[in-house]
Amino acid sequence: MSPETRRFLNTSLKIGNRSISGRLIVCPMAGYTHVAFRQLLEYFGGYGLCFTEMCSATSLPNENPMHSLVFRWRREELDRLSCQIFGSDPGIMAEAARRIESSGFFGVDINFGCSVATVCKRGAGAALLKTPGAAVSVVEAVRSAVSIPVTVKYRTGWSDDAGFAAEMGRRFEGAGADALIFHPRVAPDRRTRPPRRDYIGRVKDTVGIPVFGNGDIFDENDLERMVETTGCDGVAIGRIALANPWMPARMTSGLMEDNALYRFTAERYMALLEQHFEPVTALRRFRKWALFFSAGFRFGHRFSADIRRAGDMGAARDVIGRFFDAYPERNARPNMNLFR
Ligand SMILES: Cc1cc2nc3c(=O)[nH]c(=O)nc-3n(C[C@H](O)[C@H](O)[C@H](O)COP(=O)(O)O)c2cc1C
Repeated sequence: MSPETRRFLNTSLKIGNRSISGRLIVCPMAGYTHVAFRQLLEYFGGYGLCFTEMCSATSLPNENPMHSLVFRWRREELDRLSCQIFGSDPGIMAEAARRIESSGFFGVDINFGCSVATVCKRGAGAALLKTPGAAVSVVEAVRSAVSIPVTVKYRTGWSDDAGFAAEMGRRFEGAGADALIFHPRVAPDRRTRPPRRDYIGRVKDTVGIPVFGNGDIFDENDLERMVETTGCDGVAIGRIALANPWMPARMTSGLMEDNALYRFTAERYMALLEQHFEPVTALRRFRKWALFFSAGFRFGHRFSADIRRAGDMGAARDVIGRFFDAYPERNARPNMNLFR
């Protein structure tokens, strides 16, 4: 990566009334970016902001952070942690945002990108991009409820129309959003077609608030192209941070990878999952994550199949021991077949 891009990533950025220390951020990912994973990310560092998993605005006011699987955090991480919410009722979204602010989060992020049926059926997530006025009302309500930064994460929309995406960015800004995280794919596309990076440039040219480009960044070259071709103010990475939680550190300061780093990461993550969750939940989460992690290895599918069969964390530890003792060969780029 060029020294200019690295400098760019390490430059602070103002979002609303607060600043983040770097322009590489880690996306919200349901089932993955929970408190244990974020502690693993934090160990390596390199990112300016990360997010909780998406939280239902309806449930959030009643969540108990001691027991909730999604609305749980460590106090030390709040300075660079935003809580993402989804919902369609402006009043309910505002109430959730107030709880997020009083809990001490950096900011609140509104999900207009999720296109899974369970969320869209409730008229939330990307479904709101079908009714732009309703989406704008949600942003206005959240904005007037809190003074912490309000960000909006959204997709192109339901048809492949850069003009619509840019217009929505303009309207979100008008409604009081402090930054946009834009994933330039249409909502029905579950990451099968390449993201339209040129659309990020269109959004950036239309608004005055910071725009984070998102989509299919797996290494430094992808990131450099994103920054150069879109003029974005920052970059949001998702799946590659699951596969390689040290990736923000590698991208921002050039950390070197070897098998020992992979092994350390898997073992540390197991320990963190055990620290934060009940054994059954910890194992389930480790198994899900192992699929992303295994994409880094030539025979990773065998590793993840063995982890899937492990009946408890002890058995999973044995799988890890055997796998790394055999000096597994790594892929230059993650195996995309395991990555969707
Ligand atoms: C397993 C998984 C869960 C996700 N959950 C969320 C979510 O809760 N909220 C959200 O806004 N986006 C979610 N996304 C989308 C990501 O935040 C991101 O926009 C997408 O993966 C594209 O970035 P990438 O190509 O760097 O992975 C999820 C993606 C994945 C793969």
